[in-house]
Amino acid sequence: MAPLILGVFQYFFPNGMSGQSWRHPDNRAVDYLDLDHWLRLARQFEDAKLDFLFLADSYGYPTIDGAIPDVALRDAMNLPGADPSIIVSALAAATTHLGFAVTAATAFEPPVANARRFSTLDHFTRGRIGWNVVTGSSQVAASALFGIPVTPHDERYDMADDYLDLSLKLWEGVWDDDAVRADKAAGVYVEPAGVHPIRHDGPYYRAEGIHMVEPSPQRTPVLFQAGSSGRGREFAARNAECVFLQGTTRAAIAAAVRDVRERAAGYGRDPGSIKFLVGMTVLTAPTRAQARAKADEMHAMSSPEGAAAVYAGNTGINLLALDQDRPLSQIQASGEQGQSNIDRFREAGAAGAPAPLVRDILEEIRRRGLRGGLIVGDPTEVADQIQSFVDETGVDGFLIEPHLTPGTYDDFIGLVLPVLRERGLARTEYAGATLRESLFGVGHAHLPADHPGAVHRAARQALADLAVPVGSRAMMTRSGASRGGAGSAAP
Ligand SMILES: Cc1cc2nc3c(=O)[nH]c(=O)nc-3n(C[C@H](O)[C@H](O)[C@H](O)COP(=O)(O)O)c2cc1C
Repeated sequence: MAPLILGVFQYFFPNGMSGQSWRHPDNRAVDYLDLDHWLRLARQFEDAKLDFLFLADSYGYPTIDGAIPDVALRDAMNLPGADPSIIVSALAAATTHLGFAVTAATAFEPPVANARRFSTLDHFTRGRIGWNVVTGSSQVAASALFGIPVTPHDERYDMADDYLDLSLKLWEGVWDDDAVRADKAAGVYVEPAGVHPIRHDGPYYRAEGIHMVEPSPQRTPVLFQAGSSGRGREFAARNAECVFLQGTTRAAIAAAVRDVRERAAGYGRDPGSIKFLVGMTVLTAPTRAQARAKADEMHAMSSPEGAAAVYAGNTGINLLALDQDRPLSQIQASGEQGQSNIDRFREAGAAGAPAPLVRDILEEIRRRGLRGGLIVGDPTEVADQIQSFVDETGVDGFLIEPHLTPGTYDDFIGLVLPVLRERGLARTEYAGATLRESLFGVGHAHLPADHPGAVHRAARQALADLAVPVGSRAMMTRSGASRGGAGSAAP
C-alpha cells in the first residue's frame, strides 16, 4: 500500500466540528484570528511531513426557521468566522513543502475574481495551493446574506460546471508559458503573441478578455471537491482531482469511490487519476483506556441542541422538530441545502438494518459531528483501523479533523504517524515542488491531459503553433462544449 495522503482539516472559526470543544482549556482554536497560532500549526504539520492544511469555509451559518439558534452563537458553531484565504500567503512564507487547500463556494463570488485569487495564491505559495470547490453549505443563510434566492440544489452544480469551465479557460487558455519575457533591455515584459484573449458564453457565465494574472506554477490550483450527493458526484467525476467524501459506513464510502470512478470514465478521464479522502477524527493515547477517556470527554462536550443546529445549517432540517422515534422518511426533505448529510441517514443501516430513527441521527451527529469519521484507540489500534478502512473503502487518505487544536494533532503526529511510517503508510519525505506533484508525483505540476481543463491548454498551444498575429485573431470562444472528455472540439 502506498503512503496515504494525510491532510489536516481546520476551520477558520473558534469551534471545531460541532459540540463545545472550544470550551476545553487546551483548545487553542479560539486563537483563529492570531497569525502566530497558524504559523505554529503550519510549521508543526510540515515538520510532520503532512501533505496539506485544508481550511474549510462558508458564507453561511446555522439557521432554524430563518433564525440563528442561540446555541450556535453561544458555542460558536460555524460562526463567527473569517476569510481563510487571506492567511495562506503568510503560512506559505513560513513553510517550504506543506500544501494549502482552501474552500471557495461557487454560488456567491464571480468566477473571474475567484480565478485571480487562486492564481495569486499559486504564485505566493510557489505552486502549493488547492481549491476545494463546493456549491456552499448553509445556502439559506448565505443566499439571504448575498440578497439572492436559493438556487435549486442540482442547478447549483450546473452553475458550478460553467463556473469551472470559465475558470479553467482563464487559467489554461490565455497565457503561453513563455509569454512573460520581462526583458528590460528589449523593453518587452509580455510578448503580445503569447496572450490569447478568451470569450466565454456559458449557460450561466459570460466573459471576454484575458486572465490578468501571469502563469503561476500550477496554473490551475489542485481541484478538490466536497459534496457527496448524486449531482455532487457527477460534478466531482468531471472536474475533481481529489474528492472529500462523507458517509456513515465503510460500505457507503466504498460505493461512492466506485461510483465517482465509473462516472469519471464517462468523461474520458482515467478513473484511477482521482484521489479520495475522508474526514476522520482520531482520538488516541498511549493506552486504549486513555483514548476512550478522550472520546468520553469529547462526547460530554456536546448537546442535542448543538447537534441539531449544525445539522440544520447543513441540511435545512430541524431534527428536534421531528418525531424522534421515526426515521427521516417521515418528512419529504427537499435537500435544497445539502444532500450528503440527508442521504447518509436515509440509507438503510449495514446489512439491511432499518434506517436510523431521528433520535439515533441526533446522537450520531452529537457524537461524531457532521463528517462521521471517528477512530479511537491506542496507536497500534488506530493504525490497524486506518489500514482496514483503506482496504475496505479504497480511499487514498484522510483529512485529520480536530477535537482539540493542537492536541488532537499532537497525539496523531506523536503517536500514530510513527506506526504508520513503520508500515510504509505515511511519507518520510516530501516529493516535488508543487502540491499537485506532492499528491500525483514529480513532473505532474499541471492538470493531467485527460482533465476537461486541458482542452484549453491544447487550444492555446494550437494557436501558438499557428503563430496567428494578435491583431487578426478572433476571440478564442468556447462554451458548454466540455461536457465531453478532453477530446471535445477545440475552437
Ligand atoms: C471533508 C469535507 C469538507 C467540506 N468542506 C466544506 C467547506 O469548507 N465549505 C462548504 O460549504 N462545504 C463543505 N463541505 C460540504 C458540505 O459539508 C455539504 O455536505 C455539501 O455542501 C453538500 O453537498 P451535496 O448536497 O452535494 O451533498 C465539506 C464536506 C466534506 C466531506
